[in-house]
Amino acid sequence: MTTIDIEAARAILRANDRGGYTVPTDRLYPFQWNWDSAFVAMGWATFDKERAWRELERLVEGQWDDGMVPHIVFHAPSDDYFPGPDVWRTRHAIPTSGITQPPVFATALRRVFEIARGPDAQARAARLYRCALASHDWWETARDPERTGLVAILHPWESGMDNSPAWDEAMARLTLQPTTPIRRRDTSHIGAEMRPKDEDYRRFIALVDLYASYGWEPAAMWRVSPFRLVDVATNAILHKADEDLLVLAEQFGTEAERSRIAARMARRAAAFASLWNQDRRIYQALDLGTGSTVDASTSAGLLPLFAGIPSAGQAAALADELEAWLARAPYPVPSTSPLDPRFEPKRYWRGPIWAVVNFMIAEGFERYGHAALASRIHQATQALMRDGGIAEYFDPTSGEGLGGSRFSWTAAISLMIDQAAVAGPGRDKM
Ligand code: GLC
Repeated sequence: MTTIDIEAARAILRANDRGGYTVPTDRLYPFQWNWDSAFVAMGWATFDKERAWRELERLVEGQWDDGMVPHIVFHAPSDDYFPGPDVWRTRHAIPTSGITQPPVFATALRRVFEIARGPDAQARAARLYRCALASHDWWETARDPERTGLVAILHPWESGMDNSPAWDEAMARLTLQPTTPIRRRDTSHIGAEMRPKDEDYRRFIALVDLYASYGWEPAAMWRVSPFRLVDVATNAILHKADEDLLVLAEQFGTEAERSRIAARMARRAAAFASLWNQDRRIYQALDLGTGSTVDASTSAGLLPLFAGIPSAGQAAALADELEAWLARAPYPVPSTSPLDPRFEPKRYWRGPIWAVVNFMIAEGFERYGHAALASRIHQATQALMRDGGIAEYFDPTSGEGLGGSRFSWTAAISLMIDQAAVAGPGRDKM
């Protein structure tokens, strides 16, 4: 296993600590982000257990009464980021955004609970279990009101994969105009060629303005939204999180809660079949606006492995598909297939590698017994960080580190891979 500098990774988390919560990186992202924090909590758990608990507890300070865990919690003001609280216009006591992000929280909670035992662990886990359950119930009522088994996102930012080609067609259909003037701050920190385009931002903000005008009320948002996408990654992550929630529910939940979680898992597992594209050998998003799947092959399409969704045959097909990508772009795992004409190796979610996604894909292959491929991905992730820095993302054609530097969730993943390597084979899986 490639060695990385563990002290450097820990130092990044310490430097990005703002008092119980960790910013993704200095300046570019000055608040607490939802799925970043879940991964970061698992990273903290490898060396500072108290801090791991705090990360999760501070995130739920932003949880809404209806159960939603927002994608950003604006704990302290900053001029470094657009759109800030004045654009979101939400009503929570601590300002937050009005949308969510992939629900890694319950997976992180289970892991922190298993690693970070201690005198108050039971009470802390019991409270956070309630928060996780409320958030999963919210996903079901707010984002799958027709109970199809699969949830839909209402904004590309909810996927965490902001400018994925999977959103192109739906975003191109948007005729809405933003009412908020757009004052991007990201491109004053990072080269514009590595970020979403102005056109993307115009549409991102147009959706924010639309939902703000309906007071962020989920039923109204669902009714008026011109963007309703069944994202593969969100559903896979939610499924894995439900699996982890069910384990926690054995200790902290009631019989009724356990059956509710199990029932929605069964519905979701069956519904996933509609996202499988046999010709492309991958899962693809479903656009509820058109009723058709979106023919874009992205790293999201491999994530059902993480949740144990595919059959053994489908898992083998996913492994073959990934090998075909790697014949074109040698560093795993590109966020968009290098065989797709929309592949751009430096532009954010249209090609670059993201350590958190690699981690989940590797865990997924391991779950299916593809141990060599899993370990190849973990090792490549460590090598990318050793050679390219603990960067926000990496170019899959050259391995170059891109975007923000000294990045929290990338550091967290390096700590998790390192700890698993130390623990050796036979360790507990996520
Ligand atoms: C970007 C990413 C998103 C992440 C955030 C903070 O918006 O697309 O996934 O959560 O940055 O790192």
